[in-house]
Amino acid sequence: MSSLPHLIENNRKWAARIEREDPGFFRKLAAQQKPEYLWIGCADSRVPANEIVGLLPGELFVHRNVGNLVVHSDMNCLSVLQFAIEVLKVRHVIVCGHYGCGGVKAAVDGTPNGMIDNWLRHMTDIYRRERENLKSLDSPESVVDRLCELNVVEQAYNVTQTSVVQDAWRRAQELNVYGWIYDISDGLLQDLGVRFSSPADT
Ligand code: CO
Repeated sequence: MSSLPHLIENNRKWAARIEREDPGFFRKLAAQQKPEYLWIGCADSRVPANEIVGLLPGELFVHRNVGNLVVHSDMNCLSVLQFAIEVLKVRHVIVCGHYGCGGVKAAVDGTPNGMIDNWLRHMTDIYRRERENLKSLDSPESVVDRLCELNVVEQAYNVTQTSVVQDAWRRAQELNVYGWIYDISDGLLQDLGVRFSSPADT
């Protein structure tokens, strides 16, 4: 017997609903996945990738970590990128942050949180670099929110600098990288006006 019966029960209802709306859905999906989008987002439970953009299983390839970071030496993220771009041939990579991100807050307030501080260091670096510009903001919340935006821009740029994306552009594969931010207080996404479609954009 499952120790989390309510989740298994939810799953049965969910699968039945999808199958009712589109008979054969899972059978078709089992044969292949052909998503057009790769989502790189925060692990935060309030930012569920598929639901936010109204996409079904099979339509969005997803990588999530604390703070939606794209670190040049992170084999996990790089492997996802490579598989998505070279095998699945996604055409769009969306880096999506969110306001009020706990990772960004921790990077700003500097209180020790143990091992995760090493990961958040990448965000602390952005904060250190931007600290002077952030001084004009009137509240600690607006500093965090602005840093959430700056972090998205930085991570979208990092995507473009990976060998995977550089190689794709070299062989003229269509690939666009976007920077978006999600507001957990109203459920709305905002395009930060970041879009890289070729080396000339970077
Ligand atoms: Co977050």
